Amino acid sequence: LARGVTEPDLAGRHVVVSAGGTREPLDPVRFLGNRSSGKQGYALARTAAARGARVTLIAANTALPDPAGVDVVRVGTAVELREAVLRAAAGADAVVMAAAVADFRPAVYAAGKIKKKDDQDPEPIALVRNPDILAEVAAGRARPGQVVVGFAAETDDVLANGRAKLKRKGCDLLVVNEVGERKTFGAEENEAVVLGADGSETPVPHGPKEALAETVWDLVADRLR
Ligand code: CTP
Ligand code: CA
Repeated sequence: LARGVTEPDLAGRHVVVSAGGTREPLDPVRFLGNRSSGKQGYALARTAAARGARVTLIAANTALPDPAGVDVVRVGTAVELREAVLRAAAGADAVVMAAAVADFRPAVYAAGKIKKKDDQDPEPIALVRNPDILAEVAAGRARPGQVVVGFAAETDDVLANGRAKLKRKGCDLLVVNEVGERKTFGAEENEAVVLGADGSETPVPHGPKEALAETVWDLVADRLR
């Protein structure tokens, strides 16, 4: 096949991709959030559609145009993301969790705006754990052979942390990014290593998020065959 020509190797497949970052509300006007732009998840959705897949993109707080030919489901919090991912994953051949999920959410939601008081220091914010969506999807694979993919951003001991995380989550593939001050968040380019539960290690050189997305789908397609 000529370079640049997309092979429809995902035709007849249904894939689910989560993108963006969850926001956990404190009150009607404030939230705890993260800096994920959603660009990597959208690149995954676009490239899967180009390779013939039916794509459900679950977008958490992104400000990007809907990719053509992709079903987009919009969510806000981790709990909403979990609901949407589990529903879509039920019939899917592959689930890719590119979204940045808040590990914790405020223990209480104030129905009215939180006000400061002149004579009082602020209260600390109590947090509770959010569900681990990736681990749940991997543990309860909706169909045998469903391929489950996670993403991890690490600052230190990138490969060792990645291996341990892959095992802990029980997924088939884990895309590990090294993050730092100016790396990854909101950037157009990315550099990563894709770790496989089979012990494989696929380096992806610095390049556009599309290139990383294509490598992820190559590895998913191998495992679906
Ligand atoms: N993830 C998830 N649900 C969560 C947290 C994370 O599904 N509550 C998914 C992310 O979408 C990502 C993968 O798990 O695909 C790894 O996320 P990461 O934050 O690196 O993993 P954690 O287990 O939360 O580890 P850490 O303590 O390093 O944040
Ligand atoms: Ca986390």
